[in-house]
Amino acid sequence: MTPEQFSELARVLPEPSIFLNSTGEILAINKPASSLFELPSKELKGKKLSEFLTDNKKNVMKYLQACSKSRKMVIGSLTIRTSAGDIVVCRSEGAVIQPKQLKSPAQLILRLEKKSKANNNFILLNQKIQELNTQVKLKLTLQELQETQIQLVQKEKLSALGKVAAGIAHEINNPVNFIHGNLKPAQEYAQHLLELIQLYQQYYPDPPQEIKEEIEEIDLEFIIEDITKLLQSISIGTERIRELVKSMRTFSRLDETEIKYIDIHEALDSSLIILNHRLNTTPNSPNIEVIKNYGQLPKIQCYCGQINQVFMNILSNAIDALNEYQEKNIREIQTNSPQIKIQTEVFNLDWISIRIIDNGPGIKEEIKPKLFDPFFTTKEVGKGTGLGLSISHDIITEKHGGKIFCDSTLGYGTEFVIQIPMKLAIRYSRSKK
Ligand SMILES: Nc1ncnc2c1ncn2[C@@H]1O[C@H](COP(=O)(O)OP(=O)(O)OP(=O)(O)O)[C@@H](O)[C@H]1O
Ligand SMILES: [Mg+2]
Repeated sequence: MTPEQFSELARVLPEPSIFLNSTGEILAINKPASSLFELPSKELKGKKLSEFLTDNKKNVMKYLQACSKSRKMVIGSLTIRTSAGDIVVCRSEGAVIQPKQLKSPAQLILRLEKKSKANNNFILLNQKIQELNTQVKLKLTLQELQETQIQLVQKEKLSALGKVAAGIAHEINNPVNFIHGNLKPAQEYAQHLLELIQLYQQYYPDPPQEIKEEIEEIDLEFIIEDITKLLQSISIGTERIRELVKSMRTFSRLDETEIKYIDIHEALDSSLIILNHRLNTTPNSPNIEVIKNYGQLPKIQCYCGQINQVFMNILSNAIDALNEYQEKNIREIQTNSPQIKIQTEVFNLDWISIRIIDNGPGIKEEIKPKLFDPFFTTKEVGKGTGLGLSISHDIITEKHGGKIFCDSTLGYGTEFVIQIPMKLAIRYSRSKK
């Protein structure tokens, strides 16, 4: 580069720049630099830089030597004495433009920046970093607030549901127990009456006409045959209602925050009973078959209501998926009837796993990473809030120190795996924070 070329270039450089050689001779200088020296450029050209500096000459030379050997900017500090005698401390950056040749010394460029300005920039940079820090903190706080809000909404929804369930369960419980309690004596009385009729028939095989007619009218033979069956089916019915009430009670223990030993199978069954009406809805398509493959599990310590919540969320997702699939692919379903398999087992000595597997539509690759995100849903507006899995994830990982993940193949089905450590000691809880 020639001094003329530098001058051309330096005209567009906003920062003070000097073109010089490694002996320190100024070859060209741009306007911002000459104003730092408070001298016109022609009075600087051809002079040694160190003439205008208060720094030790040797040090200046050393610095210029270093710059003349480096393609990367070498940072240094130069102190200018202006023509008016003022001292200006500058931060400098220098690098070689043309290396040393046989007869000519290396040529380099120096960029100067007033220290106070450099300091200002540093302060500005610091301020920016602090602002960014606050922004990051605010973002984190916002995230935490959103998470808490989601949990509160879900808790509120579920505790309202829990209260309704508990209320209904309580109201049904009394009359059902009354019926159930009276059924046994009713069965006994009926049995006695039947025996008595038999005795009568034995001793009076030929009753008067009026009795004969009455026997025919009421179809005594059928009554004798049917009454036992009828009382038995009432008994089965009340037994089922009692089961349902019990499940509603188990399920409605939502706001129990304490940890309890629970039977995971009982919890799964109670969720299934509550969802029973959804397993048998769609009129044109087969019911959903539930295949239980329960292993031997000890009772484990859990937040009971919350674990129920997880089972409900995952089972209802499976039911939603199967029902939606059935509506669209009735023919296919006829050859591949809808199923939910539930498998439980102990593994690694002190962990349990619960697998809930459906043979529904499966999940597309691109949405798999979003499944556990709050508010992620593929369901129509009003059908899904997209909170089920995110809440379940929180309950399993944060509250029970466990794991939950999903394995799904499009067109074949979906499996959700929940793994929970049996012992409380290896759990950690965010709620303790
Ligand atoms: N068994 C499954 N088969 C297919 N897709 C599933 C299954 N389980 C979950 N998904 C997908 O994951 C999405 C998120 O589920 P999540 O339970 O979090 O929300 P949601 O069911 O849409 O709404 P919400 O549970 O809040 O009412 C669902 O919208 C669905 O697309
Ligand atoms: Mg859901």
